[in-house]
Amino acid sequence: MENRSQWGTRLGFLLAAIGSAVGLGNIWRFPATAFENGGGAFFVPYLFALLTAGIPLLIMEYTIGHKYRSSSPRSFSKISKGMEWIGWWQVLISFVISTYYPIIIAWSVMYAYFSLGTQWGDDPTGFFVGDFLNLADAGTFGSIVPAVMIPLLIIWVIVLFFLGRGVKKGIELANRIFIPTLFIVFLIIVIRAVTLPGAMEGLDAFFKPDWGSIADGSVWVAAYGQIFFSLSIAFAIMITYSSYLPKKSDITNNAFITGFANSSFELLAGIGVFAVLGFMAVQSNTAVSEVVAGGVGLAFMVFPEIISQMPASGFFGFLFFASLFLAGLSSMISISETYVAGLQEKFSISRGKAVLFGGGLALLISLFYATQGGLNLLDTVDYFINNYGVALAGLFEVVAIAWFARSLKDLQNHADSVSDIKLGIWWRLCLGVITPLVLGYMMLQNLRTEVS
Ligand code: PFF
Ligand code: NA
Repeated sequence: MENRSQWGTRLGFLLAAIGSAVGLGNIWRFPATAFENGGGAFFVPYLFALLTAGIPLLIMEYTIGHKYRSSSPRSFSKISKGMEWIGWWQVLISFVISTYYPIIIAWSVMYAYFSLGTQWGDDPTGFFVGDFLNLADAGTFGSIVPAVMIPLLIIWVIVLFFLGRGVKKGIELANRIFIPTLFIVFLIIVIRAVTLPGAMEGLDAFFKPDWGSIADGSVWVAAYGQIFFSLSIAFAIMITYSSYLPKKSDITNNAFITGFANSSFELLAGIGVFAVLGFMAVQSNTAVSEVVAGGVGLAFMVFPEIISQMPASGFFGFLFFASLFLAGLSSMISISETYVAGLQEKFSISRGKAVLFGGGLALLISLFYATQGGLNLLDTVDYFINNYGVALAGLFEVVAIAWFARSLKDLQNHADSVSDIKLGIWWRLCLGVITPLVLGYMMLQNLRTEVS
């Protein structure tokens, strides 16, 4: 028997799984998504998606990893020879993400630095688009685009260093450092945020339910999309991480803890972000809805502006971007581990070689995104990955397991043999029927908006 690497402790695994789940998606994706899709009412489809798809799939992936003790491709091939490609599809998606995700982490590092002198001046939007990204005509900071390669390379050194050291001494150690630090830093920010003048206006805007939105199919699609992305499901990550669990591990309980911890962090981020947006709205005498901009805009354009107006601005700006850095780094380590593990098993090479080849190739490609041409591509790649790549990976996965291999019952027995909470028919129903239907609908919905 091979001697598979293992986590040192149960907490080590949980911190790594939570570290993968908690990422940029919680801090900038969730608050804007919830706000745009019904505010307080969004929690209905969101909780439904968490309980019927998110946690059941997490249990399934943990069980697959734990049972077959292999990377995602090999786990699938052990279930059925013809299914290995599903694992590789997931690994490929993770690989692609790992070529541009570090760019956004690198921006965070630069913005943490800029915060100290609120270097973006009075016009953060102009600074971001013009001077920083150099997308407009030559800005005064034009040279900064190549400068992003410095934090980018530092990030890669950190990621490859921890990956190279292995599961317990590397990945677990990194998460033991990053995740508690992230929680403390983020808590400081949220406490500061909710005590700003105008915070309540922001929270009002965030939680105000628009009940009509529940009848809107696209709101449900958004809720499922958020849950999949946020829990790092169907990316080969959770299968890989759980393959390093000791034989005696409570799978089901671990999945519930990971799911709820991630959602709690999401809620916390929503409260923090909207408290700050309320402050901004009051300062500039506008409605909260006027200052919300999703995604990249929120983090790198709206926040810098707000930070400039805050008391002790440099310090809090630094903490905010440091938390993006920590959250991003632990997710980045998890995405990259999928192909390190996959390559290692496929070609029977050492971990060091797999890190060198897989990580090295991703590093080289990521350099391209730091250039002008690459930046234009980043948005498009991200769009296709999130709208098609992940939904398809999830769909392939549940259909293959539930309908082709018919292994749900088998996996249920395995999970039940090590877990306190026993799975019932509801679990097989969620995975065999509800989730494939919703994912299929999601794909069609995405294609339809594409055509119209
Ligand atoms: N789950 C992470 C988040 O919510 O930000 C994002 C993520 C990490 C997605 C790793 C995909 C991934 F492979
Ligand atoms: Na998340």
